[in-house]
Amino acid sequence: MKFFVDTADVKEIRELNDLGLLDGVTTNPSLILKSGGNITEVTREICSIVEGPVSAEVVATEYKEMMREAEVLSRIADNICIKVPLTLDGLKACKAITGDGRKVNVTLCFSATQALLAAKAGATFISPFIGRIDDMGVDGMELIGEIKMIYDNYNFDTEILAASIRTVNHVKQAAMIGAHVATVPPATLKALVKHPLTDKGLEAFLSDWAKTGQKIG
Ligand code: G3P
Repeated sequence: MKFFVDTADVKEIRELNDLGLLDGVTTNPSLILKSGGNITEVTREICSIVEGPVSAEVVATEYKEMMREAEVLSRIADNICIKVPLTLDGLKACKAITGDGRKVNVTLCFSATQALLAAKAGATFISPFIGRIDDMGVDGMELIGEIKMIYDNYNFDTEILAASIRTVNHVKQAAMIGAHVATVPPATLKALVKHPLTDKGLEAFLSDWAKTGQKIG
């Protein structure tokens, strides 16, 4: 499973990238707002830190303007992946942009049929929003399973990018179902390593080691 970080916080991205944990980054208008920076400058900096795809989202809702924005965003760096919403205009833009050999992440996916359309439009990634479906009192993870089954049935190349991930358990479940990518907020990504028995075990080893009075090397 590939890990993308779902943030536009350059400091967090740098730290996680230095750990060797990042395969890419996803941003969206809300995350750009949170970063407090200018979309072009922030995205350019992120693209210079991470080698993998960096999703940058168009904000136009009409095809022609989407294509213009996609062109502007694409010029930021070679590893830009254009993010478009799951609308008819977004799907049309997806088809045209991927037809030019560029990567597209189709976002705001809440149903399996939407995901089917995105795959038919040649999407590189489909982003089902797990947490927001959970918020409605429905199990968001079921959608990942449905999309996986449909994509496997027809051998679609589109990668399932589990998004709106909120918990460690979301990451585990998405990996068990076989989502290709999880885009995870920085804090949740770091929480994946945590286990109380690891901390306890390490403490005991270090305490015993201190009693030996030895030094390695
Ligand atoms: O990956 C999409 C994500 O940024 C949305 O997450 O927590 O706002 O539903 P959330």
